[in-house]
Amino acid sequence: MTDLADSPLVRRLADWDDDRLESLADEYDTPLYVMDLDRVTENYARFSAAFPDAHVMYAAKAHTGKAVLEAVLEAGGDIECAAWGELQRSIDAGADPNTLQYTAVNPPDHDLDYAVDLAAENPGLTITIGARDTLDRLAERDYDGRIAIRINPGIGTGHHEKVATGADAKFGIPYDEVPEVADRVRREFDLVGIHAHAGSGVLTDGLEDHCRAISRVGEMARRVGDDELEFVDVGGGYGVPYREDEEPLDLEKTADMVREAVGDLDATLKLEPGRYIVADAGLILSTVNTVKEAPDTTVVGIDASLATLIRPAMFGSYHPMRNVSAPDREPHPVTVGGPVCTSADVFAHDRPIARPEREDVIAIGNAGSYGYELASQFHSQPRPAEVAIEDGDSRVVRRRESLEDVTRVEREADATGDR
Ligand SMILES: Cc1ncc(COP(=O)(O)O)c(C=O)c1O
Repeated sequence: MTDLADSPLVRRLADWDDDRLESLADEYDTPLYVMDLDRVTENYARFSAAFPDAHVMYAAKAHTGKAVLEAVLEAGGDIECAAWGELQRSIDAGADPNTLQYTAVNPPDHDLDYAVDLAAENPGLTITIGARDTLDRLAERDYDGRIAIRINPGIGTGHHEKVATGADAKFGIPYDEVPEVADRVRREFDLVGIHAHAGSGVLTDGLEDHCRAISRVGEMARRVGDDELEFVDVGGGYGVPYREDEEPLDLEKTADMVREAVGDLDATLKLEPGRYIVADAGLILSTVNTVKEAPDTTVVGIDASLATLIRPAMFGSYHPMRNVSAPDREPHPVTVGGPVCTSADVFAHDRPIARPEREDVIAIGNAGSYGYELASQFHSQPRPAEVAIEDGDSRVVRRRESLEDVTRVEREADATGDR
């Protein structure tokens, strides 16, 4: 059992040990992803403790590294997956396939085939569908197993319009069509749950919208008969403070509001947090390679880029940054960018940071979720290594890629004449 007494609600970048981070950069080189597995365990335990009667699944999409999945499983969590690769990797990490939930969003044939084959041997697996079409395709595959219906609550929430899935037609069965779809699922499959995910990155001030969406989920569950459902799944979306002055989510208040919004249910409440479990457990270490005085700003070039962490370029997201080599130097407003040839490859504009010099190590915080997961090899850059910290020790859990890794699939195609 994790002791939560010493576990803060939030882990700010300044709470990490600067010397330790510098020595990790020295030992493993940069850019480097660092993941504190003990913090992953704490976050899972804290979140579950706030929802004692609920079933908390970890949304693997936030970070699908094996070490993270193992830590979640070890902490007693189950896993929600969004693609066949996440299912396979969860199983590789030790998950019982009977406990997995696969959320099918416009699922490619390969994904459906994989899930159906898996369910044939593991009837506990649940497939969440968001389109009638997916039911047709499952029926064509002779699937008659467990189905949860993802509904479109018509209310989106979250830190950015591109993550406000609850109001996006792409996701879920249109609200008023759900009872009819539920009838069909009951006839042809095993209807076990109602599901929705309204959006991501919700902090305390966004809870009201989030709960309005959730109340629609509870309402629909009662409409289709919650006494015949196993669970009502209200998705993830619970945020972490990215800015130093933002307050962490008030978990007690969140749990109270979610419970109240969903209302009385005979079915078990399920939640699927991703970011909350892993965001502040991870950071990126990078090294300053360039300091340039431009007429309007000081440009600091680092070896991490949008290929390492795409959130700032994709969503305009703020990530805290800290000069861990010299945290006590006078703060100086700097523009921090990486080696990718686009103006989008900028982590911060005119941000006061302890004046960086060449070779300093800069830490980028809250990179544990949607960091490595969205990394690319843009500019033929091999992806960085990832190091896990556990019980105070560090170990490489994903080695640094080489240029050989980047070009392997091309060379193999050349060798087999497939190109
Ligand atoms: C269906 C579903 N569940 C859970 C999540 C996890 O969201 P978060 O990481 O914001 O908790 C997502 C995120 O996109 C999702 O689509």
